[in-house]
Parts: sequence; structure tokens; C-alpha cells
Amino acid sequence: MAFFRKKKALLNYTAVPTHIAIIMDGNGRWAKKRSLPRTAGHAAGSKKFKEIARYCNKIGIKYLTVYAFSTENWKRPKEEVDTIMNIFRDYLKDSANFKSENIMLKFIGDRSGMPEDIVKLMNNAEYDSKDATGLKCYMAINYGGRDELVHAVRDIVKEGIRETDITEETISSHIYTKDYPDPELIIRPSGEYRLSNFLIWQSAYSEFWFSNVLWPDFTTDDLDRAIEDYNKRNRRFGGI
Ligand code: FPP
Repeated sequence: MAFFRKKKALLNYTAVPTHIAIIMDGNGRWAKKRSLPRTAGHAAGSKKFKEIARYCNKIGIKYLTVYAFSTENWKRPKEEVDTIMNIFRDYLKDSANFKSENIMLKFIGDRSGMPEDIVKLMNNAEYDSKDATGLKCYMAINYGGRDELVHAVRDIVKEGIRETDITEETISSHIYTKDYPDPELIIRPSGEYRLSNFLIWQSAYSEFWFSNVLWPDFTTDDLDRAIEDYNKRNRRFGGI
């Protein structure tokens, strides 16, 4: 019965967003609730990412951007950072993750700050999945919205673009997400109500959906609910 209800809800989607972005938050609290080390929460969060990406692909979302590691996350204890890096390594080494599921994987963020072997794995994963025609999944690693804008401004200056020629389009075409549309919907679980330096330029007109559920507990039903709520929003883009 529940299955039927869910299918029905899916069929009722009037406008599946083209691009959904997710702040995968709450891994540490999820682990703490279970008396596990925080790192176990990140492992569970990584599994959840795979499940949700697969689901987005199935329901026809074109772009998914997930916040996996911020420019500020280096401040965490070394053991936690090392474990997150190992989770990336394990995920990236298993290239069947993306190829077999027709999901294209790309990365946004500052690669120059990442361990060299991971950068190689990232490049390989991008190359391996480049011909996928399903979901385009962008993982934000060593990403910060302000840092992204600093890099964009530096590139604009380096290219010698004249002050009077600079428009919003100039900025949009110099940020990491230059090849794909802004997210219509940004989801943040775990009961926090902030953007935390994620897609600050791109989110100018995004709809937000918050939930108290911790990321490893997030379900495909939660995603359905977010999309259903999104469909009820009246997006005016500054008009009336
Ligand atoms: C936020 O939760 C989560 C992170 C900073 C790391 C997210 C990393 C993953 C989900 C693993 C990514 C791996 C892949 C392959 C996508 P938190 O640690 O801030 O949780 P808390 O707020 O409860 O402490």
C-alpha cells in the first residue's frame, strides 16, 4: 500500500526540478546518537549519497550537487579529515559506481588543496563517466562559495576583461558551475537553517527545504516530500 502511495506521488510530480542541491549534514550527530565515532557517520553519509544519487537518476533529475567537504572542514580533527579523505578514495576507486549507472560524476571546488592521489582519482572518475547520459552529479569537495567567487574574480582580472564589460553573466561564466543551471531547490537536513558558504551566487532564487532528519537517515520519501513542497511554491523571481 505504501509502495502504491509513493508511486502515485511520483506520478503527480508536476515539475521535477532540473537541479537539486543537497547539504549532507548531520553525520556526526547520527553517529553520536548511536555511540559510534563521528567517522562512522561519514561512512553512513557516503552510503546515503549513493542511494539518493541513484534515486535522483531514476526520477529524472538532471543535475544534483552535493556538499561533501567545505574549505572550512579542514579545521576538523586530523583523524576525522583523514577518514573523510579515505571515504573519498574508496568511493572514487570503485569506478563502477558511476559507469554502470549512467551517472556522470564531476567535482567542483579547489583541487589544488586536495591530496594529489585523490585529484588523480577525481580526474579519472570524471573521464570514466563523461559519456553518461543520465544524472549529472557534481560533488563539491574543498568547496567554498566565497572562495569560488575569489577565484572567479582573479580569472576575470587575468583575462583582462574591461570593467564596463563585466556583467552578471561574466561572473556566472567564471564560477565552477558555469556549465550548468542554478539549483531550483536546495535541501538541508539535520535541523540547521543556513547555507554554510554553499552555492552562494547560484542560490539567489533557489527554493529551500529544511528537515530535522539527519543525513544518514534521509530517505527517498524525504526527497519526494521536498519535491512535492517545491511544486507548491510560487516562484516569482522578483516579479509579482
Ligand atoms: C556534515 O556533517 C558532513 C560533512 C562535513 C562531510 C560529508 C561527507 C560525507 C557525507 C561523505 C562524502 C563521501 C562521498 C563519497 C559523497 P557533520 O559532520 O557536520 O555532522 P554534525 O553536524 O552532526 O556534526
